[in-house]
Amino acid sequence: MTQFLGHAIPPALVQTLRTVPRHLFLPDRIWRGDGQGGYGLCDHEEEPERWLETAYSDASLVTQFTNGLPTSSASMPSMVLRTLMLAGLHTLSRPLRVAEMGTGTGFNAALLCALLGDKGVTTIELDRGLAQAGESNLRAAGYAPTVVHGDAAAGWLDRAPYDLTLATFSVDRIPSAWLAQTVPGGRIITPWNSAWCCYGTLALTTTQDGSAQGNFHSFAAFMPMRRPHAAARAPGPATPDGSPKTTTSTLSPWEVAGGDLDAEFHVGLTVPGVSFGWDTSGDHAPVRLDVTDTTGSSWATVDYDGHHNGRFAVAQSGPRRLWDEITAAHERWLTLGRPSVDQHGLTIDTTGTRTRWVQAVGGQHTL
Ligand SMILES: C[S@@+](CC[C@H](N)C(=O)[O-])C[C@H]1O[C@@H](n2cnc3c(N)ncnc32)[C@H](O)[C@@H]1O
Repeated sequence: MTQFLGHAIPPALVQTLRTVPRHLFLPDRIWRGDGQGGYGLCDHEEEPERWLETAYSDASLVTQFTNGLPTSSASMPSMVLRTLMLAGLHTLSRPLRVAEMGTGTGFNAALLCALLGDKGVTTIELDRGLAQAGESNLRAAGYAPTVVHGDAAAGWLDRAPYDLTLATFSVDRIPSAWLAQTVPGGRIITPWNSAWCCYGTLALTTTQDGSAQGNFHSFAAFMPMRRPHAAARAPGPATPDGSPKTTTSTLSPWEVAGGDLDAEFHVGLTVPGVSFGWDTSGDHAPVRLDVTDTTGSSWATVDYDGHHNGRFAVAQSGPRRLWDEITAAHERWLTLGRPSVDQHGLTIDTTGTRTRWVQAVGGQHTL
């Protein structure tokens, strides 16, 4: 193992990274996170040296924004390498066929080509302009995988089956097409997200009967899959009239939304469709946690009064009691012995039913 960018990486993968020059895959204008939720632009024309330095930093570099939100990036190199390691691509004994979901710049597809050969690699990109740019970057760097413009959620059966379906965006549900296109005994590896917590990587192994099972791994936060054909959500009922239900909670909002990724991951996995945001404006309370469901029909607020660390004022409204759900999920997480992300997993059975589980005190528990 070689230390690279702070992680132990097999020499074969480090060598692969060195043979694929990342700067060939980047546009002139790239944005790097500033650590405070914003992005700093680096323009090749204005600052060629800083641009080159940035190109070889261990950072995710945003290459496109849509409506103010990042919609494509060159993934963080150490995360790319850890994903390739998880896929076992450095210990190959036979040629593999890989379907990469999310071509983006083409950089990861180039790494796959360097490892497997061009013929083994198919890469799918939703955005036509990005698919074209990614393909031309790949050609210019000397690689010729099959680049497809399409929605990765539908898979790409033309070149199936694949030994590995590898996503470079995060999902909250494995599309059935990924199971259909992956050989029995193959792998599906994808970054994960929930409305509450965008974190973790799921590695599933498929079986002969069409089911799949695997664990989450504790790394990676990737931008979510875009869903061009998703049905527009029916707006939730307007916030019901009348006063919200007010109570007091002993659960600190920082316990579930303050950066403990194991707790946040568990809450996100078990309370789907609920997100949070911190309000530190002081308009309502010294610090408030705003909790909403993705249909917009229910909400909760949890207020810290600036003095009491064990007592928080809660207001809840709508058909779901969101803070009660979050509190119950957190209590279960504590009872299970504070399981880490890696102790969680997912099984998809032959009927397509998804079961989330955790390996914890007393064995496997269904969530
Ligand atoms: C993190 S970037 C990909 C990084 C890329 N593999 C690289 O090496 O530069 C995620 C990409 O997935 C694409 N994407 C998002 N949703 C998609 C979908 N449903 N189908 C295909 N591509 C999608 C985005 O347009 C974006 O380019």
